[in-house]
Amino acid sequence: MSRHQAYRNYDYENDINEYDGDGDGYSDEGEELSPEDRAQMDAGTDEIRASLGSESSKVTTQQIQEALWHYYYDVDKSIAYLISKFIAPPSKKKEPVPSPDDVVLAAQSQAGSKKPAAGTSKKKADSGTKKGDVTDRVKDLKIDDTPLPKSKNLDVLKEFEKANSKKSASFVVVGHVDAGKSTLMGRLLLDLHVVDQRTIQKYRKEAASIGKSSFALAWVLDQRSEERSRGVTIDIATNRFETDTTLFTILDAPGHRDFIPNMIAGASQADFAILVVDATTGAFEAGLKGQTREHALLLRSMGVSRIIVAVNKLDTVGWSQARFDEISQQVSGFLSATGFQLKNVSFVPLSGLHGDNIVARSRDEAADWYSGKTLVEELEGSEPMARALHKPLRLTISEAYRSTQSPLTVSGRIDSGSLQAGDALLVQPSGEKAYVKSLELDHQPVDWAVAGQNVIIHLSNIDPIHVRVGDIICDTKQPIACIDTFTVKALAFDILMPMQVDVHRGRLHAAGQITEISALLDKVKGTVAKKKPKIVKPASVARIVVKMGTKVPLEAGQRVVLRSGGDTVAAGLLE
Ligand code: GTP
Ligand code: MG
Repeated sequence: MSRHQAYRNYDYENDINEYDGDGDGYSDEGEELSPEDRAQMDAGTDEIRASLGSESSKVTTQQIQEALWHYYYDVDKSIAYLISKFIAPPSKKKEPVPSPDDVVLAAQSQAGSKKPAAGTSKKKADSGTKKGDVTDRVKDLKIDDTPLPKSKNLDVLKEFEKANSKKSASFVVVGHVDAGKSTLMGRLLLDLHVVDQRTIQKYRKEAASIGKSSFALAWVLDQRSEERSRGVTIDIATNRFETDTTLFTILDAPGHRDFIPNMIAGASQADFAILVVDATTGAFEAGLKGQTREHALLLRSMGVSRIIVAVNKLDTVGWSQARFDEISQQVSGFLSATGFQLKNVSFVPLSGLHGDNIVARSRDEAADWYSGKTLVEELEGSEPMARALHKPLRLTISEAYRSTQSPLTVSGRIDSGSLQAGDALLVQPSGEKAYVKSLELDHQPVDWAVAGQNVIIHLSNIDPIHVRVGDIICDTKQPIACIDTFTVKALAFDILMPMQVDVHRGRLHAAGQITEISALLDKVKGTVAKKKPKIVKPASVARIVVKMGTKVPLEAGQRVVLRSGGDTVAAGLLE
């Protein structure tokens, strides 16, 4: 049984005994299938074997059926996946087998990207352990050593209090593949007039010409040609909008399980989340076994506590209140079993495609039964996380590029502390110093910025070769240390034992190994339940030691996700 299946089969509401660890493969999963599903599965398997012809021997029935399950029995999508993963390219055969996450990250760096529309930005993923294309792009540029602006020596925290500026909040949009996340965000931006009707009409035309007309709204977020032709989100898209009280940053995440590392990067920058579930018959149920559940677990492990559940596509079930109630009840059940407090969870029935209950209330008579808040009202009622204003400066770089203001401009969300023009900064892991030439918030020049804000920094006196996406910018006097071994209090998503893992923190991604399981912990009290267990079972909490191949900037209080073979195996807090 693959890890992914083990994880999917595990029922967090019930006991550990539910976990099927006997390794006997897909047949157990088969028992969960309804007769109709079973029939579709068998027919789909035969069709794929016939289409693949002689190549068919390169994939197992289990791999075929996992693909069919994942793509809702869509034979074409399953074949495309199986070919890309197991059959082509043949030249890979002799090389050491890269991890699935490496495959995804490599594919992304090759993927061409269209020029983003105004206000939309799509970041290229970059492995933290490799010199990515960012450094390639900028390494031949010369260092900016123009005289620095004099620091105004502002008391930034006082300025922040005085400014009484709008709240700023970032939210990540997560959920199973095709739940309608990008369409919902496209609709939100259209109805708030951030995107105009003409752009959408243009997208409708272009999308129709490649047989994807239902994705026109999603194209507001899905800007890459590969995303558009495949009809799936691959990487996080960011976009901004404001209401009377708040400046919001949207982080639209991919739902496909192959792109979980990008979802992790998005979730690491978020104050709260919108979990989109597809109310269509069968789709909700499939999502619950897939990324609806995995994303919720990841959010929880990464410290996100507020969730707005968007019960989407209600148009497909005639705005059935019974369906909305049934879904709300089931999602509440598993969210509370995952550790969310239900007072922080709310549900909105909506249709992203048609625009009901997003900015304006639904005008469909069948939706009359709902008199609660719209999605925008729920967003406005969501408090950003407490800002760590008084802690030392930490900012994770999410983009690095050349701009008209500087050979090296970086952007990212300030995790803690504050900064101002003229400040000296340290970039880790390179340990190189740089200076803040100028700053921008929301494309406006500013003198300072504080924790929680997404800032653009024009740097000087640093060679761009020392700066990569995923690096941390910090205070020169209280810098973050670079370490290669750490202890983490982790929730196991799968069986843990001494094994190879990929360590993910935001965009950063490094190869490592679980070297020791120090203790199994009591989930409620946090006390040691058993010292040095041989393995950790799914849903248990344990203290484990991880050693990485390289030194990476990490410190206590940060959250990391451990993945292996393309599946999330654990996540937790650095001690
Ligand atoms: P990934 O990012 O790839 O995980 O997908 P997504 O969750 O962003 O879904 P996307 O917005 O790409 O939409 C997937 C499909 O669902 C498209 O064909 C949409 O037209 C359709 N869809 C989205 N919202 C609705 C809705 O409210 N009603 C109906 N009927 N279809 C919808
Ligand atoms: Mg999407």
